[in-house]
Amino acid sequence: MEKINMVLKRTEKVCEIFVGLGLFDFLAEDLKKRPLGRRLGIITDTRVETVLGNRLHKRLIRAGIKTDVIAIDPGEDSKQWKTVQWIFERLIALGFDRKSALIALGGGVLGDVTGFVASLYMRSIPYAQVPTTLLAQVDSCLGGKTGIDLPQGKNLLGTFYQPSRVYVDTSILGTLPYEEIQNGLAEVIKTAVVRDRGLFQLLENRHDAIVDEKRDALEEVVARCCRIKSDVVMADERDTGLRRILNFGHTVGHAIEAYTNYRVPHGMAVSMGMAAEAVLSTRMKMLQPEEKQRVLQLLKRYDLPALIPASYDTEKLIGIMHSDKKAEDGRIAVVLPKTIGDAMIMQSVPTLLIEEVIKEVQG
Ligand code: GLY
Repeated sequence: MEKINMVLKRTEKVCEIFVGLGLFDFLAEDLKKRPLGRRLGIITDTRVETVLGNRLHKRLIRAGIKTDVIAIDPGEDSKQWKTVQWIFERLIALGFDRKSALIALGGGVLGDVTGFVASLYMRSIPYAQVPTTLLAQVDSCLGGKTGIDLPQGKNLLGTFYQPSRVYVDTSILGTLPYEEIQNGLAEVIKTAVVRDRGLFQLLENRHDAIVDEKRDALEEVVARCCRIKSDVVMADERDTGLRRILNFGHTVGHAIEAYTNYRVPHGMAVSMGMAAEAVLSTRMKMLQPEEKQRVLQLLKRYDLPALIPASYDTEKLIGIMHSDKKAEDGRIAVVLPKTIGDAMIMQSVPTLLIEEVIKEVQG
């Protein structure tokens, strides 16, 4: 097991991150020895509840911790005010007070919703993240971004609220279907391209072990991503500078998600976005053509899409990019890799060039 301390300068808070195989017993012992609250509420979804929620619940009860489970519907549709209000009401009915704490058990949606609830309930109570998807383990559970959607767009309400602890149990990954792993692998490749050339090489060299979901390979990949994310968040918790490099592939990727009404899963959309943004970087004379080729090659090796379907309307995609909440004054910012392992944020990329590049990667 590996332990990473993420020290947040602004609030002088430390978020402890534990990464390892089979952490459920450790987690219960740890929460017994060093309680986060007088009682715990596991917030999960009805699907995760049957597979892992009940197991975790039993472990915590066995450790002598008063624990309740609150399960919401699975899926992005739960990221709304109605759900949050329902959780608040459940917590009140169960008698949760300011000395209570929450555990987010689930994927990205669960983490976002639970973090949001924890940041507001009784003016904020502590929470821990126990991510159960690869995507959540390598990215969304770390860094304290919480939020829900509005009919007008995703994540339009939210807070920065750091979990006190994150328990990343990589043995959970063995229970996931490969499509779920693939979805997270797009974020892993993103992390490698913007920050860690060694991780990129590892993804090239250990492809078979990773797709076969070999435990040691996945554990190494996840631990490496957690270290990187932790370093980036420590340097820029509020997402005003360096942290934005984690949006590589997301300018185009978010537009694809919105364009397809979120029918394309996040990882697939980000993969297409990375292909387009790598090509863009080469067009802007930053990323060497051979390096761009390696990025495209790696996406393909992991069966991730490196082409945007020809049927997508480029003008509409560009329109969405202009109205994205990340666009400032309508200017489209894009993260461009300089080499594999290093990237920069280009604040205002000419629309015409993005349009040309999207057409180039359509097929
Ligand atoms: N998922 C990107 C970030 O946390 O900043």
